[in-house]
Amino acid sequence: MGDSIDEYFEVALDLVKTAGNLINDHVSGCKTFELKSCDIDLVTEIDKKVEDTLIGGLSKKFPTHKFIGEETVSAGGKCELTDEPTWVIDPVDGTMNFVHGFPHSCISLGLLINKESVVGIIYNPILNQLFTAQKGKGAFCNGRQIHVSQTKDISKALVTTETGTSRDEEKQKVVFQNLQLMIAKGHGIRCLGSAALNMAMVALGGADANYEFGIHAWDIAAGDILVREAGGVCIDPAGGPFDVLSRRVLCASSPELAAEMAKLLVQFYPERD
Ligand code: IPD
Repeated sequence: MGDSIDEYFEVALDLVKTAGNLINDHVSGCKTFELKSCDIDLVTEIDKKVEDTLIGGLSKKFPTHKFIGEETVSAGGKCELTDEPTWVIDPVDGTMNFVHGFPHSCISLGLLINKESVVGIIYNPILNQLFTAQKGKGAFCNGRQIHVSQTKDISKALVTTETGTSRDEEKQKVVFQNLQLMIAKGHGIRCLGSAALNMAMVALGGADANYEFGIHAWDIAAGDILVREAGGVCIDPAGGPFDVLSRRVLCASSPELAAEMAKLLVQFYPERD
């Protein structure tokens, strides 16, 4: 099993780097896009091309593997997680940034076996940031091992989150309430515009915690293992175990900070993936 995970990782990494060139061809923005669930939920031709490149390459090498891809699911495909090796793909996480040319977009690719993340790759080709993790082998940024900050206290925490890609009023109310709480209690708030890159910042130790409601499995599958392999924790925002299909995430540099934030956060329960 260990050997095959190494092989899965190497094949995936090559494909992600190749697909990154598609993103790099549009560093100044990609002004042609379509709308998905609402007018701030965007998709471009590049999202679809990157997903096709990854699914095409991985399924050729590993024909029995399963896939959960953002654009395939958007087009009516199944979002089904079994114990089989399953690649969970966000071809361009931060599509809004990509459309505008704001340089924080990435490919996020996670591999789950027995419903647990064993490989995570988050690649921002524009800023040349490659985050990688394999189960039991640590987390890396451009080949250098990274660790969470180990901050234990919200009063000293820099927290990442997002305002999201939904116009749902109930959800937006919760977003504002939580922003207010974090601004009042923490060191500050940052929103990179990509859920996966926010989680990568926690793994890197640049941010101390990240939470979001309404994300999907493809936004967080790679970030989950990256943060855990960097020494952090990834849980449900109410304090229970992390559930990749729940559309809820809280990760932090320490269990103490995660527990404190879980008590503070106003909760929101979107429909599951
Ligand atoms: C979105 C981004 C955004 C987050 C949303 C995600 P996409 O992913 O990660 O920052 O707030 O929840 O859906 O649509 O750009 O792949």
